[in-house]
Amino acid sequence: MLLWGMDQVREWLKSARSIAALTGAGISAESGIPTFRGPGGFWRNHRSEDLATPQAFARDPSLVWEWYDWRRGLIAKARPNAGHCALAALELKHGQLLLVTQNVDGLHDRAGSRNILKIHGDIWTLRCSVCGREREDLRASLPQLPPRCTCGGLERPGVVWFGESLPQRIWAQAEQAARDSEIFLVIGTSAVVYPAAGLAALAKSSGARVVEINVDDTPVSAFADASLKGSAAEILPRLMDDRL
Ligand code: APR
Repeated sequence: MLLWGMDQVREWLKSARSIAALTGAGISAESGIPTFRGPGGFWRNHRSEDLATPQAFARDPSLVWEWYDWRRGLIAKARPNAGHCALAALELKHGQLLLVTQNVDGLHDRAGSRNILKIHGDIWTLRCSVCGREREDLRASLPQLPPRCTCGGLERPGVVWFGESLPQRIWAQAEQAARDSEIFLVIGTSAVVYPAAGLAALAKSSGARVVEINVDDTPVSAFADASLKGSAAEILPRLMDDRL
């Protein structure tokens, strides 16, 4: 298969009628938020896979909350980087850009993107594990861990944990976007966590050109039409720059 480079991808983006992008933790790495896998993927010797589960929360809700509280603190201090901003600019310019993100940090919103499907939830949402009430709490550090609902039940982070289903309607929209896109960008994700990881293959089999942006190879690299190696904050602005 012929692999295309930066110039060709820039041309594709200019003429595409519909673009979708899937982002993962790698796009926020340069904002100072650690990714889940690879270097920095541990917190106090715990792997994210061992903390982000309903079983871990049932066993030790305080420990799980301490991890989320730590991440919330980092995110609150962080700023969107040039990669987030380039995607927001592409949405403004192109109109037909749908962002599917696995990230729960809200940095895409803060960069100005509006057309976002958060398939793994939102770290700033708290949900009662007893009555299901949801609320937004933007405080970087919660006064009480684990937090409790007014009904007395334990609150949990409003994110999707391993073994849980994705929000059905949002996921259906993400699949539709993958099927409808002419260009499908896969940015900063290890592409090993399903079902999100399957979106790139779905887009490809539906006729999209798949463009990967990552510092490393992933399972998507094997079938991507273009695999641009480098950081999202460096490559995305260059892809959008008309002067190049
Ligand atoms: N620019 C581009 N890519 C980068 C950068 C960067 N600056 N830094 C790291 N990466 C890449 C890594 O090479 C890796 O492929 O980002 C990817 C991060 O992978 P993960 O940590 O596995 O993050 P993600 O793919 O988002 O994880 C998926 O797993 O833990 C769950 O629910 C959590 O949404 C998360 C899901």
